[in-house]
Amino acid sequence: MATRNECQDSGDEAAVLRQPSRRRFLQSAAAAATVGAAPHLHAQTQNPAAPPARTPEAVPPRPVALNVNGRAYALQLEPRVTLLDALREYAGLMGTKKGCDRGQCGACTVLANGRRINSCLTLAVMHEGETITTVEGLASNGALSPIQRAFIEHDAFQCGYCTPGQLCSATALLDEFRNGTASVVTADVRRRPIKLSDDEIRERMSGNICRCGAYANIVAAIRATHKGGAQNASVDAVTNRDNA
Ligand code: FES
Ligand code: FES
Repeated sequence: MATRNECQDSGDEAAVLRQPSRRRFLQSAAAAATVGAAPHLHAQTQNPAAPPARTPEAVPPRPVALNVNGRAYALQLEPRVTLLDALREYAGLMGTKKGCDRGQCGACTVLANGRRINSCLTLAVMHEGETITTVEGLASNGALSPIQRAFIEHDAFQCGYCTPGQLCSATALLDEFRNGTASVVTADVRRRPIKLSDDEIRERMSGNICRCGAYANIVAAIRATHKGGAQNASVDAVTNRDNA
C-alpha cells in the first residue's frame, strides 16, 4: 500500500508533468488572441488619413407660427423642439412646467384647441394653426378663472410646481364633463354622467401627479368649481326663462 508521502510525491510529480502543457496552453491562447486582434490593429493603422465617421447634420431652424393665449408668436425652431420647450425657452412662457419630460407627470399640461395635452410629448411644429392655452392664459382681463380662484380658496397647492398643469387639466376636465364625455369610472357610458363624483374627478385628473399630496384639496376645488358652474347655469336658465 502506498504511504501518504508516496502519494504526495507522485502528486507533485504529476503536477510538474502537467506544468509544461499548461504553459503551452497559455502560450497558444495568447498567440491566438494576438492573431485575432491583428486585423483590427492593422485596420487602425492602415489608413491614418481615412475621414472621420460622419455625424448626422443638424436640421436648420425654420419659421414656426404659434398662437398662444391669443397672441401670435413667430419663432425659429428646429423641427425636433417640443411644444413645451418652445413655450418655455423660445416664447418665454415659463408658467408651464417641465417635470418628467416623458409624459408621466402632467406638469406640462396645456390646452390645444381646448383639449388637454402633455406638451413634452408633442412637437411645436405640429401645432401651427391651433389655439394654445397655457396657465398664463386662463385668467382674463386680470381676473382669475373660476378654477384658479377655487384652487386658492381650497388651498389646493403646496409647492405649486404641478399647479399650472393641474389648472389646465381641471379646466379641460370641466369642459369635457359638460360636453358629456364619459370616463372609465362612469357607470353607464351610454348615458351622460349626471354627477361629477369625486371618483370621476380623481380618474379624470389621474394624469396629473402632485408630489406634495394636495390631491384632497384639488378634488375639493374642482368639485366646488363644477357646483358653482352648475349654479351659474341654473341661474342663467332661470334668468332666460324669466326674460322669455
Ligand atoms: S413634463 Fe410632460 S408629462 Fe411630465
Ligand atoms: S403642489 Fe407641489 S407638486 Fe403639487
